[in-house]
Amino acid sequence: MQETLNYIQENKQRFVDELFDLLRIPSISADPAYKDDVLKCAEKVADLLKNAGADNVEICQTAGYPIVYGDKITDSSLPTVLVYGHYDVQPADPIELWRKPPFEPYIEKTELHPDGAIFARGSADDKGQFFMHIKAFEAMMKTGVVPCNVKFILEGEEEVGSVNLGVFVNENKEKLACDCILISDTHIYSNEQPTVTTGLRGLSYVEVEVEGPNRDLHSGLYGGAVPNPIHVLSRMISNLIDENGRIQIDGFYDNVDQVSLEERAEMNKLKDDQEAFKNAIGLSGLEGEKGFTTLERTSIRPTLDCNGIWGGYTGEGAKTVIPSKAFAKISMRLVPFQTPEEITEKFTKYFEKIAPENVKVKVTPHHGGMPYVLQSDTKEFRAAKQAMETAFGREVLPYRSGGSIPITAMFEQVLGAKSVLMGFGLDSDAIHSPNEHYGLFNFYKGIESIPLFFKNYAK
Ligand code: BES
Ligand code: MN
Ligand code: MN
Repeated sequence: MQETLNYIQENKQRFVDELFDLLRIPSISADPAYKDDVLKCAEKVADLLKNAGADNVEICQTAGYPIVYGDKITDSSLPTVLVYGHYDVQPADPIELWRKPPFEPYIEKTELHPDGAIFARGSADDKGQFFMHIKAFEAMMKTGVVPCNVKFILEGEEEVGSVNLGVFVNENKEKLACDCILISDTHIYSNEQPTVTTGLRGLSYVEVEVEGPNRDLHSGLYGGAVPNPIHVLSRMISNLIDENGRIQIDGFYDNVDQVSLEERAEMNKLKDDQEAFKNAIGLSGLEGEKGFTTLERTSIRPTLDCNGIWGGYTGEGAKTVIPSKAFAKISMRLVPFQTPEEITEKFTKYFEKIAPENVKVKVTPHHGGMPYVLQSDTKEFRAAKQAMETAFGREVLPYRSGGSIPITAMFEQVLGAKSVLMGFGLDSDAIHSPNEHYGLFNFYKGIESIPLFFKNYAK
């Protein structure tokens, strides 16, 4: 093992240089204008796997963007670890808020990253993180210690809902058969308090439309006498959550897992610095569901947020109009044992119920995903915890995250294997935002932790 860690140490700089090449490809899956770049990125990932020593490297076509596969099967008596990641990234806009162009990576020090951080779209989510696995694998190959069989599956559609990955996994159960799945696409609590992610929330995502008059109206001739869809929609959205932070949708909490007081006490051991949390995002106060801490509100409790709202005139200058329609996008984060189907249906019923009679409403569901939990008494959790404790030289605690990676629940269902969420980002890395970055410290700790995980898991 020491040899593998030495190899990593000696090749540190080259790893960063290679990652930069990967980050230069704008593989934005949501925007068809970047189609060629996403495809080019898949080729690049396949080359990286080949160069690291993987066998059977393949660019698997799907109805959407390809899935890159590769493996190293050394001994059928060893456990098999399936490494998952995604090479697609979020759109870079609002582009004007980036200090330097999003696909021209550079390193800069920050308060939380005194050793420097790599700035680029995808640096933390998820290129910088899955790349750690390719380099850890290279290090294991070069030093002749690969303690488990390894399979890689890297997709290009995670940021748009992983629809084709679901189909692919169902059609390739044999090929993807494994004992566990290892994923670095989450964050740790802090560099001083490393954590293994033991939970992810699910997601239900809907678009709503409120239609009032059959055409846009002059607000002088009609204003004051007709329902304005923007007003109606705003009122309906405000009424979805009450003053105690409780979501009003009928039956919304019916299936919510009531986490025990012991478990809540355990999770609140993480030092919850409210001041730092507020300051980092420029807020003077927080809000949320009464009776729960910030940590709980962002992990074990379900939430509802309006993600966008539009309608009427939003261009230059003024236009006096009452629009015919108003729209919004709304997401709900789910916890065990809620399901996206159940919640989308309950949302739709409630939204139709609270709509005044003089408007029409339409609810269109988008992609969703199931919540996921990894128990801390599993060998998967212990292997990750011990690996990170060795790499960081600190105690590692379990941590339930508020984000979503819907394929974790799907992997469990179809492949019958648990996912270990050994991610190394920080919540301040600005993923999905301008100036996304990934700490060099985190990048290297990740590369070191991975071979240690393999070693522990093989035992
Ligand atoms: N890597 C993130 C999810 C994440 C980040 C989980 C940090 C926990 C900590 C992933 O790429 C992502 O953005 N997921 C989406 C859901 C998806 C269906 C678009 C999300 O959480 O909004
Ligand atoms: Mn991700
Ligand atoms: Mn993401």
